[in-house]
Parts: sequence; structure tokens; C-alpha cells
Amino acid sequence: MAEEIRLVDTHAHIDGEDYDADREEMLARAKEAGVVAVVTFGDTMEASARAVKLAAEHETVFAGVGVHPENIFPFAAEDDDRLAAWTKEKNVVAIGEIGLDYYWEKDEDKRKLQRKMLVRQLALARDLDLPVCIHDREAHGDMMAILKTEGRNNRGVIHCFSGSWEMAKELLKLGWYLGVDGPLTYKNAAKLPEIIEKMPADRLLVETDCPYLSPLPYRGQRNEPAYVRITAEKAAEIRGESLETFSAQTTANACAVYNLKIA
Ligand code: NI
Repeated sequence: MAEEIRLVDTHAHIDGEDYDADREEMLARAKEAGVVAVVTFGDTMEASARAVKLAAEHETVFAGVGVHPENIFPFAAEDDDRLAAWTKEKNVVAIGEIGLDYYWEKDEDKRKLQRKMLVRQLALARDLDLPVCIHDREAHGDMMAILKTEGRNNRGVIHCFSGSWEMAKELLKLGWYLGVDGPLTYKNAAKLPEIIEKMPADRLLVETDCPYLSPLPYRGQRNEPAYVRITAEKAAEIRGESLETFSAQTTANACAVYNLKIA
């Protein structure tokens, strides 16, 4: 008998209205596809509150709380306190999604605010002894500078990794895990397949970033956790591994970095 496939979708956003009509069915499809856990991340305070609620209601859903760079605002002390309080709730395992996005943000003052609030949320994660989930889009230089200074004692994941192999090597040396998503299946995946092939097995994670970034053949449609299996199949093929081996390893990695307790 073939070994059971057990995957974790390590980065999703299942709190939004995209899933209001079929959230339970969507989670059932994930289970059928072998997805034993979903880590859903808040990208605003409101979304973080919803993520915490979903984690409380579902054994297979874990949550991260944080404010995404595209939605960043100057925190008051009570914002840190709200995030910290949420991390004490059931199945809340990380601070995220936090980071820098210079693709969408061109204004220098707002980029500066992104950096300031990233550093602040990294500090919060250290205080709480929790891993972080990092978003880095077209901000590689500033991100590396922060992770080597203020973030040197943080741990966690660079999700949807989009840098070079050189950058990957630096991050691996600093102890970070890297996440790969649906774009691995695209024809224009560029240098990503080569990076996935070279990645050490114990630092790689698979994720959907749903509802965004659907893998082929669903590109352009709503993404969902079940489709993490498609990205896992592609990554396993690139690495010359069976899906069984690949999923067992990446699920072990997910449990290690996010301290997931899964049945
Ligand atoms: Ni995301």
C-alpha cells in the first residue's frame, strides 16, 4: 500500500470573504487532498482576529497574527498588546504576515514606515518567543539588512521566496526556512526551479498563499489549500523525490518551524 500523503499548507489567507460561501467544503477538499493542516495568516488587525477565530474553531487550522506591509499603519502600544493577546489563543503559532513590499509601495516615507513596523513586529515575536512569517517583494536589500541586524535573533519563514540562490544561501545560513508556492508551476518560473532543486530538504516548505497565486491549471482562479498538493508534486518532481518523501519532509519542517501539533 502506498504511504499516506500528509501535507501542510504553510501559508494561506482563508479568513476572507472569498471563502464565505464554501469555507467548510474548501477545508474538506483540503483534507481529501492530504492537507492535514493549514496555517492561515492575518494581513490586517481585522483579518488577524478572523484568523484566530478560525484556528479556535478548527483542529486543522493554525493562525499567524500580524499586519502586512501593504496595510501597515503606525502601531500604538495597544496594537502590540492585541497581537500579543491573540498569540495566547488556541492554535495561534506565529507573528505574520509581516515584511516589506516595494513592488506596491513606491513612496519613500511609507517604505520607511514598513521597515519600522517590521522591526517592531520582529521584536514582538522575540518577546513572545514565536516564529515569524515574512513577506519580501522587491525589497531584498533592505530585508537582508534588517534580518542581519534587528532580526538576527528571530526565526521563521521567508514565504513565497523570490530571491536569488545567493540570497537563499544567506538566509539558510541565518537559519530561515523558505516557502514555495504555485508560481513554481508557471512557465515563467525562471530561477525558482533551480533554487528548489538545490534547497536543503530540511528548510523547504510548501504553501498556497491562497486565495492568490493558484498553481497551473488554476492560474487566475481562486486558490485554496487543496492545491498545495499540485505545488508539492511539482517540487518533488524537480527534486527527483517521491511525493511521499517530499510531503513527509516538508510536513516535518512545518511542524518544526511553527511548532504545530497535528494529529
Ligand atoms: Ni500571504
